[in-house]
Amino acid sequence: MPTLDTRDGGPHGHDVTLPIDISAGTSRRGAVAALRSAFEAAGLDTPPLDARLLGMDALGIGATALVTDPEVEVSAAEAARLTQYALRRVAREPVARILGRAEFWSLPFRLSPETLVPRPDTETVVETALALVPDRRAPIRLLDLGTGSGCLLVALLHELPRTWGLGLDRSASALWTAAANARDNGVADRAAFAAGNWTAALAGRFDLVVSNPPYIATPIIRGLDPEVARHDPLRALDGGPDGLDAYRTILAGTAALLAPGGSLVLEIGHDQQVAVAALVAAAGLRLHGTAQDLAGHVRAVSVRV
Ligand SMILES: C[S@@+](CC[C@H](N)C(=O)[O-])C[C@H]1O[C@@H](n2cnc3c(N)ncnc32)[C@H](O)[C@@H]1O
Repeated sequence: MPTLDTRDGGPHGHDVTLPIDISAGTSRRGAVAALRSAFEAAGLDTPPLDARLLGMDALGIGATALVTDPEVEVSAAEAARLTQYALRRVAREPVARILGRAEFWSLPFRLSPETLVPRPDTETVVETALALVPDRRAPIRLLDLGTGSGCLLVALLHELPRTWGLGLDRSASALWTAAANARDNGVADRAAFAAGNWTAALAGRFDLVVSNPPYIATPIIRGLDPEVARHDPLRALDGGPDGLDAYRTILAGTAALLAPGGSLVLEIGHDQQVAVAALVAAAGLRLHGTAQDLAGHVRAVSVRV
C-alpha cells in the first residue's frame, strides 16, 4: 500500500502518514471514494470536488460515466494513475497542476511550471476591461503585461473579435504556453507574443493595457498555502519587499504606452487599493475606476492619462 509522509507541509503542521489503497478491480465509485477519504484525512479544503476531478481524469471519463457506470472496475494502469494523482494532491500539488490545465472565463488553458494557475478573481480584470470598451467590434490594440498562461489576453480577444493583442512576459517558457492557448482558443491569428521586462522595450501605443503583475510582498510568500508557495512560479508571485515593485515600473511606463483615450486595467491584491492609488497619482496618472471581486475586495483598478 503506497503511503506518503507529509512531514514537509503536513496539513496540521505535524507528521502524518496517509494510506491510499486503490488496486485493479476496485470500482470507479470505490476509487473516487478512496481519493476523497485520503483528501479528507489530509485536511484539504475541497475533498469531494478534488476527488471527482482527479478521478475522472485518471479514468479518462466524464461526469456522466461516473454516474451511469459507477461499478465498472478500474484497470491496473488506471489504479496506478489514481494512486499517483492522490499522492501528488496529498502532497499539496493543486488539482490544476496535476491535470495540467485550468478553466478561465469558461475557456480551457494549458499550464506549465512557468505559468500561474489562472484565478477566478482575475476575471474581474476581464470584466473591467470590457466595460471600458464602447464598441466591441472596434479594432482595438490590446497589450497584456505579464501574460503567463495568456488567460487575460485570450479571454479579451475571444470577446473582442476585431481586436489585435500582444502578450508580454519575462518568461519565454510561459510565452510558449500562452501561444498554445491562443491557438487552442481560436485567437492565434490576432495574437502576438514577446519576451520583455515590463514596458522597457515596447514602442507604439495601445488602446487597452491589462496586467495582473506579481504583487505578493516577498516575506509573505513562504507562509502562503503550499499549493501556491511551492507550485506557482516565484516570478509570478514576488512583488518585491512591499509587493508593489511591478506597479511602480508599469505605472512609470504607462503614459508612453496608452493611445489617446486609452486605459490601463491592473489587478491588485485585496489590501492594496490605497497604496496603488497613491502610486497612480505619483506617476501623474488618473484613477478612473475600481471593481470588486466576488468576495467584495477591490480587485481591479482602471487608470487613464
Ligand atoms: C501574477 S502572474 C499573471 C499571469 C497571468 N496574466 C494571469 O493573470 O494568470 C504575473 C506574470 O508576470 C510575469 N513577470 C514577472 N516579472 C516580469 C517582468 N519584469 N516583465 C514581464 N513579465 C514579468 C511572470 O512571469 C508572470 O507570468
